[in-house]
Amino acid sequence: MGHRTSDIGTVTLAISAQSKLVVALDFPSELPALAFVERLEGTCTWLKVGMELYYSAGNQFIQTLRKMGFEVFLDLKLHDIPNTVAGAVRSVASTGASLLTVHAAGGTAMLSAAAEAALAPGAPKLLAVTVLTSMDADELLGVGVSDSPEAQVLRLARLAKQCGINGMVCSPQEVAMLRTDLGSEALLVTPGIRGAGDLVGDQKRVATAAEAISRGSSMIVVGRPITRAQNPAEAASAILAEIAQAG
Ligand code: C5P
Repeated sequence: MGHRTSDIGTVTLAISAQSKLVVALDFPSELPALAFVERLEGTCTWLKVGMELYYSAGNQFIQTLRKMGFEVFLDLKLHDIPNTVAGAVRSVASTGASLLTVHAAGGTAMLSAAAEAALAPGAPKLLAVTVLTSMDADELLGVGVSDSPEAQVLRLARLAKQCGINGMVCSPQEVAMLRTDLGSEALLVTPGIRGAGDLVGDQKRVATAAEAISRGSSMIVVGRPITRAQNPAEAASAILAEIAQAG
């Protein structure tokens, strides 16, 4: 049975939208995470494992997700002395995760050590977290940064790039600026995605999926708007449709 041309177009659009949506598996352990993955009904291909789930389920769970056919974004937000961060990158290198986060605020030596460790065969590609999407100007001031979130994001993204890391995590509010500054090669990943009717929760610098994609996001990360939806597969499909339209 062959596809008609228009069907192939639709399938291609669906695949390319899927490659831009990462669902944040923010669950306390393997069982509820796997139960939720089933409720996605095959709508998504990218899953993000953050520290909540990783600290309880570990490297083995990443391998389980890989065997199920998912691409894994390991969001450990590493931030320690260079030797320790490089060791942590090596410790997760064999899991099959495709992406791994480090905090850009760790500085030049730490970022360079992480970048070097990530050159190992099979190691994940690194993303530097600039300013958390839960922080606004007041929060930054509280940790001694008097620059705006935009200025701080730009400073940290340029620093990461100089250290050999060409993937960044920022909010959808800075992504257009980074796309202009860093060019088309940079992998720009944006959490802080909320629809018009969604609860914002602890996030501060938010935008819709369509806004994030049209401003230049390579991938968006969505957690609670999908994980807490009554029908996660429907919520994910609606976001995929939004991505396909915007991209
Ligand atoms: O539930 P929500 O959509 O807010 O989840 C966003 C996800 O993205 C969380 O897993 C959070 O850890 C992650 N994240 C973030 N801001 C960053 C980096 C990662 O919200 N700067």
